[in-house]
Amino acid sequence: MTNECPQHIAAIMDGNGRWAKERGLARIAGHREGAESLRVVLKVAAEFGVKYLTVYAFSTENWRRPQEEVDFLMELFSNTIDNEIDELMENQVKLNFLGRLSKFSDELRKKMEAAMEKTKNNKRITLNVMVNYGSRAEIVDAVQAIIDKGQKKVEEDTISQHLYTAGIPDPDLLIRTASEMRVSNFLLWQIAYAEIYVTPTLWPDFRREQLIEAMAAYQKRVRKFGKTEDQLNAA
Ligand code: IPE
Ligand code: IPE
Ligand code: MG
Repeated sequence: MTNECPQHIAAIMDGNGRWAKERGLARIAGHREGAESLRVVLKVAAEFGVKYLTVYAFSTENWRRPQEEVDFLMELFSNTIDNEIDELMENQVKLNFLGRLSKFSDELRKKMEAAMEKTKNNKRITLNVMVNYGSRAEIVDAVQAIIDKGQKKVEEDTISQHLYTAGIPDPDLLIRTASEMRVSNFLLWQIAYAEIYVTPTLWPDFRREQLIEAMAAYQKRVRKFGKTEDQLNAA
C-alpha cells in the first residue's frame, strides 16, 4: 500500500435513473435510494477517518431535466435536511451546501443556510453537498470576486481561496459511479491531481463495500505529482 486513507473524497453520484429503470420504477425512486447511499457512504467515510466528503447532488445543467424530476429533487433535499440534521449533529458532521444557492426557493435556501449554521462547529467530517453547482460558474464567480476587490496580482492560491471550496484541501480521490468517463463540470480546478476511480456500480448500489473497494484502489495508486518513480523511491 502506498497511500494513507484519502483525506478528501469527491463523488459524482451517478446512475440513479438507470437503477430505477432496471427495476421498472420511476426515476425518482432511484434518487430516493441514492440519498440512502449517501447516508451510508458518509458514515463509512467518517469511520475510516476521511475528513472531507464532497458530493455532486445537482448540477447547473440539471435544471434541464423534466420539471417533475427537478421538483422531486428539491423536495428530497428539503426532507433530507429535516430528517438527518439531528444525526448529523450527533455524528459531528459539518454540512456545507456549495453552489449558486440563490437560484433555489427562499424556503429551501434558508433551510440549507440554517443547516450550515447549525453544524458549522462540527469537527469529525465535513460533507460538502454541491447543488446548482458548476465548476465553470464557480471559477467565474471567483474571478469576479477578485476583480471586485481590485486585486491586481493573481496566483494559483488567489483562485483557490475564492472558490466555494476555499480552505478545503483538494480531493485525493474522485469517484464516479455508473461507468461514465467524464467530469461533467465538477471541481475542474480542484481535481488537478485527484486519483480517478470509475465504477460500473450505480450510485444507489454504492454502499460500504463499494466505498472500501474504492479507497483500497486509491491506496495502491502511485501519486507522482510530476516526479519520476526513482525520485519517489529515493524519498
Ligand atoms: C444522478 O443520477 C443524480 C443526479 C444527477 C441528480 P442520474 O439521475 O443522472 O442517473 P442516470 O444517469 O439517469 O442513470
Ligand atoms: C452529473 O451527473 C451531476 C450529478 C451527479 C449531480 P449527470 O447525470 O447530470 O451528468 P451527465 O449529464 O451524464 O454528464
Ligand atoms: Mg446521470
